[in-house]
Amino acid sequence: MHFKVSPSKVEDARVTVPGDKSVSHRSLMLGSIAVGRTEVSGFLAGEDCLQTLAAMRALGVSVEQPGPTEISIDGVGLHGLRASGTALDLGNSGTAMRLLAGLLSGQDFDSVLTGDSSLTGRPMGRIITPLSRMGAEIDSQDGKPPLRIHGRGELRAIDYELPIASAQVKSALLLAGLYAKGTTCVAEPGVTRDHTERMLRSMGVRVTTAGHRISIEGGQALKGCRVKVPADLSSAAFVILATLLARNADIVIANVGVNPTRTGVIDILQGMGADISMENTRQLGDEPVADIRVRSSELRGGSVDPALVSLAIDEFPVLFVAAAAATGKTVFSGIGELRVKESDRIAAMAVGMRRLGVTVDESPDGAVVHGGGFAGGTVESFGDHRVAMSLAVAGTVADGEVVVRDVDAVDTSFPGFCSCMASIGADIQAVEESSP
Ligand code: S3P
Repeated sequence: MHFKVSPSKVEDARVTVPGDKSVSHRSLMLGSIAVGRTEVSGFLAGEDCLQTLAAMRALGVSVEQPGPTEISIDGVGLHGLRASGTALDLGNSGTAMRLLAGLLSGQDFDSVLTGDSSLTGRPMGRIITPLSRMGAEIDSQDGKPPLRIHGRGELRAIDYELPIASAQVKSALLLAGLYAKGTTCVAEPGVTRDHTERMLRSMGVRVTTAGHRISIEGGQALKGCRVKVPADLSSAAFVILATLLARNADIVIANVGVNPTRTGVIDILQGMGADISMENTRQLGDEPVADIRVRSSELRGGSVDPALVSLAIDEFPVLFVAAAAATGKTVFSGIGELRVKESDRIAAMAVGMRRLGVTVDESPDGAVVHGGGFAGGTVESFGDHRVAMSLAVAGTVADGEVVVRDVDAVDTSFPGFCSCMASIGADIQAVEESSP
C-alpha cells in the first residue's frame, strides 16, 4: 500500500485514537504470568500487540478476545508457561522481543525469538549483556535476532546501570528480576516510560523507585487485575501535528494517556509555540489520562532540550515535520537512539523531507531542520510506521500531492489511521501500490 495525500482542510472535531501499544504489550505479558484472570479493555489490536498475543498463546496461555479491543487472559502464574513448539515470530516489535527475552530467560525451557527484516536488524546486545550477567544463556547473530534463549529456570539478581535510557531494557530486566534470587536493581541514565512498574504494582508486586533506581525482589507473585488501556499519545501525536499545521482547527482527542514519562512531545511542541492543553485530567486504572485540546498554531524553531529525548523517544518523526513547518531552524541533539528504531529514523526522515524540499543537516546523533514548509513529491517510509504517518501529515500542508510508499507497517501501531485522519478532514488515501 501507499498513501496518496492531498492538501487538506483540517476542521474542528473530537476524535479518539487506538489504545496504547506499550501498555497493551505489557498487559498480555504480565497477565500471562499472573495468578487468575486479567481483563483488558481499550487493547490495541494492532499487528505488534497481536504478535505478542500469539506468542503468549504459543507459550501455553489461554487468551480470549471477546471484543475488538477487549482481551481476557487466564494467567498461569510465574512458573506456568510451557515451551513453544516453534520459534516465536514477533514481527516488527522491538518491545515484544526485548521484554519477552527478559521473561523467557527465567523459564526452565528453551525459546527462539525472531521477527521481520527490520526487527532482525536491531541491536539486542543491550539486553543480552545484562541478562547474561543474571545467568541467562542467549545465542544471537552477532547481537541481533534470532535469539535462542536456553532456559535454566533460575537467575541471579544484579545491580545494573543502563548505558542507554531504554524502557525496553529496563522492563526486560525487571521481568527477569521476577525469576531471580535476590533483589534486581536497574539504574537508568534518564527517565523512561514506567508502564511496567505501574502495572506490576497494580498486580500486587513491590517495585521500588528511588530517583533513577528501580528495584524488584524475585519470586513475587502477580495477581490478575483489570487493565484499562488509555489511548496512545504516540498515535495522538499525528492528530496533534495535523491540527497544529492546519490553518484554523480546534481539535480534542479524548482519553489520551498522559503519563509524565511520555509527554515530552507536548512539552517540546509547546516550546515551539503550540497551543496544546490537557483537559479533564483523571486517572484510568494505573495511568493518568486527559482530553488533549489542540489549536492550529504558528510554530517557531529553536533548540530541543536533550533532557526531553527519552520522554518523547517515538515522536521525533512528528517533531521533524513540525520543525520543517516552523519558522527558523530547529536543532535536535542527543537523538542517536533514533538510528536503531524500526528504521534509522534520522536518515529516513531526512531523505523524505529533502524530497519535499526541506533542508535537513544530519549528524550521527542529531539533526538541524530548516523551516519553510513542504513541496509535493513521492517519498519512502522505509517500512517504518511512524515515518509513514509523519510524512503523510506533512502532505496535508504541502504545495502539491504527496505519495508515501510502502505504508503497510502503519497497522503495527495505528489501525484505522486513514479513517481517523479523514474524520478531522485530512485527505490521506491508502491505495494499492500498483494503482496510479
Ligand atoms: C517502548 C520503549 C521505547 C519505544 C518503543 C516502546 C516500550 O523503546 O521506542 O516504541 O514499550 O518499552 P526503547 O526502550 O528502545 O527506547
